[in-house]
This record gives sequence, structure tokens and C-alpha cells, in this order.
Amino acid sequence: MIAKRHKDYQEKLDHYQQSHLLAFWDELDKKRRTQLLDDLDQVDFDRCQPLIDTFVRKRPVFKLPERLEPPVTFPATPGPEQYDRYQIAKEVGAAAIRAGKVAAFTVAGGQGTRLGYDGPKGAFDISPVRSACLFQLFAEQLRGTERRYGHRPRWYIMTSPANHEVTQEIFARNNYFGLADEDVIFFPQGQMPAFLPDGKIALAQKYRLALGPDGHGGSLRALATSGALDDMCERGIEHISYFQVDNPLVRAIDPLFIGLHIETESEMSSKAVTKADDLERVGNFCLADDKLTVIEYSDLPEKLAHEKNADGTRRFDAGSIAVHVLACSFVERLTAAGATVQLPWHRADKKLTVVDAAGNVQTPTEPNVVKLETFIFDAIPPAKNPLVLYTPRQEEFSPVKNAEGIDSAVTARRDLLLRAARWLESCGCEVPRNTDGLPDLPLEISPAFALDIDDLHERLVAPPELKPGQALVLT
Ligand code: UTP
Repeated sequence: MIAKRHKDYQEKLDHYQQSHLLAFWDELDKKRRTQLLDDLDQVDFDRCQPLIDTFVRKRPVFKLPERLEPPVTFPATPGPEQYDRYQIAKEVGAAAIRAGKVAAFTVAGGQGTRLGYDGPKGAFDISPVRSACLFQLFAEQLRGTERRYGHRPRWYIMTSPANHEVTQEIFARNNYFGLADEDVIFFPQGQMPAFLPDGKIALAQKYRLALGPDGHGGSLRALATSGALDDMCERGIEHISYFQVDNPLVRAIDPLFIGLHIETESEMSSKAVTKADDLERVGNFCLADDKLTVIEYSDLPEKLAHEKNADGTRRFDAGSIAVHVLACSFVERLTAAGATVQLPWHRADKKLTVVDAAGNVQTPTEPNVVKLETFIFDAIPPAKNPLVLYTPRQEEFSPVKNAEGIDSAVTARRDLLLRAARWLESCGCEVPRNTDGLPDLPLEISPAFALDIDDLHERLVAPPELKPGQALVLT
């Protein structure tokens, strides 16, 4: 069996000029040979071949669209002329949630290299008092959603082949964080090999290909190939509430956002925040040749990034926070056999320890491999009626990307604490603050207890009395 697979791959790899992948075959024991063949099974060589020429051997040049304008957006707080529209949208969204038409979808297949945490990022402890992990906070939101709307959305979680099993183990060990196991569906995303600059697939070890997840854009394909999309259709789910695993403030299921998405017959909707500064490292929502598009911060010319409107506000101000609602029918359309839309590939040059042709381990000091990924926001231009809804950053966005500094666990915990304090103050509590303006007590509101300020108003019988240093945890 192994001999046959080996022979087949010898021919196949010759054809694709990747025979070096079997160079150490004679040195490998049976277990390692099987592992190598299994890794080879993961590669779609036909898909890789044209990409090697265009993205690996050559460095693609980003072509700025000819016409770049700021997009039309929905404001976070509606003006008088939009007030009724927002009220209706909230009701429409709530009705869709109640009717079981909305699913939560978390992409958790990333490698989390910047955070440097040894395990799936969703298991990272983040809440300021209880040290609840990211997965727990999202599960509590779904329980809070059930309490408020009488229906608990099904939760789809995209893992990667590298963290799939351990993610499932974490959920099982924690009793699915209070959810029913049959309501949480895990599926791994696809992989892409890392390439050496000459187009050869890199070996991580003599018997292991250097494989990595194919980007969050791979979630669309993975939804289809895993059967998750069929599962959604069978259950009458029509809208997918997409968010990334690293943002503990995210509103996993937001009736207003879902309602606007439904009311405008949008196929893919997005949330934006006002950029923190002109050059903030977030994607920029733009109208590119009349199509809503996200232009990465590195691709937006600095001159445009600094442009101001007559009133002094930033012209390209809508930063993407990677929160979307997608119509299931749209994902079906994009992933159907023979679909004409293919998300574009993005090249990233990375440092990776590899085994060279002589079998020596090489640990680089400079980027030595090319990784290719697709991004979810590239699905926006082909979507019909895509919309952008602004949302207040302090309420919904504080990602855990880095081990320290900005967008780290420290900033996310601080933002969770500040948000809890604001909610309590709006309910009439006096929150003691220290000289830095931070709450002077450990404070946490579980999303199972309250999903937002309105929810907290309804849930609190009387505003609790808060004393410096005395913890308050609402669960
Ligand atoms: P990032 O772009 O922050 O990447 O992912 P990352 O892999 O988590 O972290 P770094 O860059 O290695 O430090 C944003 C979100 O998209 C998911 C991540 O899990 C995170 O929720 N993601 C990213 C995937 O699910 N699959 C991927 O292939 C890439």
C-alpha cells in the first residue's frame, strides 16, 4: 500500500517539479513515510501550480484601483432621519434570531504566531476577573442570546488541521461552556504549503511538508467542503454571523446589524470602526471603481490615508474589524462547482525553519518562505448590496493579537473592564476610578448575564453599590 502510494507520488511530483519532497524517503521508517504521504495528500498540486508562477517566483504588484472613494456607511448612532429604520432593523434582526435563521461562525484556524500562546487562541484566558477564555465568552454570549430571544444560535467553529483535535478536547473538557454539544460544530480549514522562493514546496522536516492554514478567506470553501453549509440549509439558517476568535468584545449576534443586512438585501455586510489614526494597521473600506472593497493598510497610499474632508475628518476613516454577516445563499454561490469568483491570493514572506536540500535544518534570520492566503474581506466586492455599519470601537473591538503592547491581552482586559464600568454607570452605579481613570475594582459582566447596556438595564433590579478594591462579577 505504502509502496503504491510512494510510486504514484514519484510520478506526480516529477510532473509538478516537486520531487525533492521525497528526497529523504530511504532514510524514513514506516511511520514517517506514512506521515509524509499523508502530508502530500493535503496538497492540491493543480491549485498550487499556477500560483507558484504568479505569486512565488514573481512578486505580485498591487494595482491601486483607478477610482478610490470613501464608501457610504451606516452610522453607529442613527440621526433622526434614520431612527425609525434602525428600530425596524433591530426588530427584523431579533425576529430572524428567534426564528433560528442566524448562526454564529467563528474562524479559529489561525496560528497566533504574534501572541505566541501554546494552544488554540480561543483557549486563551482573557476576562479580567474570572479569567474566562475567549471561547467561554462567546459561548456565554450565545447563552445570553437564548435568554433574550428564546433561541440559541447554532455555533460553527472553523479550526485548522493543527488545532482541530485539541480545540474539540477543550470544549469537551469544559462541558461545551454550558452549550449543548450537538449545537457546536467544528470543522478544519484547508491548508497551503509554504514555498521556497524558487517555487519548491518547503520541508519542515525530512518527513513533513511545511503546511499552514490557507487564510480566513478559506473559511468559505471550508464551510462548503465540510458540509457545514448543507447543515445550515437543512436547519433553515439563512445568515452567518462571522467573527474572528481574537476579539473578546465582539457582538457575536447583533440584531441591528443582522436586521440592516436583511432589510437592505445585502449578501455580505461588514462592521467598521473609526480609525485610531491615519495609518492604523486595519483594512480600509473604500469604493474601488464603484465596488465596496477593503484595501489593506499597507496598500493604501499614505497620501490618501492622510486626506481630510472639509470639516477636518479623515476621508478614508472606516477601518475593518473583520465582523461580517453573510447570506448562506451567497456562500453557496461563491463555492458552487464552477463558480466564477475566486478570492484573490495574498503573498506573505515569512521566516520558517526548514530542511534544506542537503537535509540540514536551517533557521533563518530573514524571511525565507512564501505563504499564500486568501482573505474573507475579498468576498465583499462580488456581493450584492454590501453594507458597512459603523460601531463604537470601545464597545466592540479590542483584538488579542500581540504578546504585549497594542492589541494585546493587557489592552483587551482593560477594554473589557472599561466597558463593564460604562455599562454600570449608565445604569446609575457609581464606579470608583483611580487616578488613571480606570475602575478601582475588579469588575466583570458575563455576556450570559447581560449582552449590552439595554440588557443590563433590564437585568439589574437595583444598581449595586461598588467599593474600591471590592470585586463585582455579574454572572
Ligand atoms: P490573524 O490574521 O490575526 O492571524 O487572524 P493569526 O494566525 O491568528 O495570528 P498571527 O498572524 O499568526 O499572529 C485573524 C483571525 O482569522 C483566523 C484567526 O484564527 C483569527 O481569528 N484565521 C486566520 C483563520 O481562521 N485561518 C487562517 O488561515 C488565518
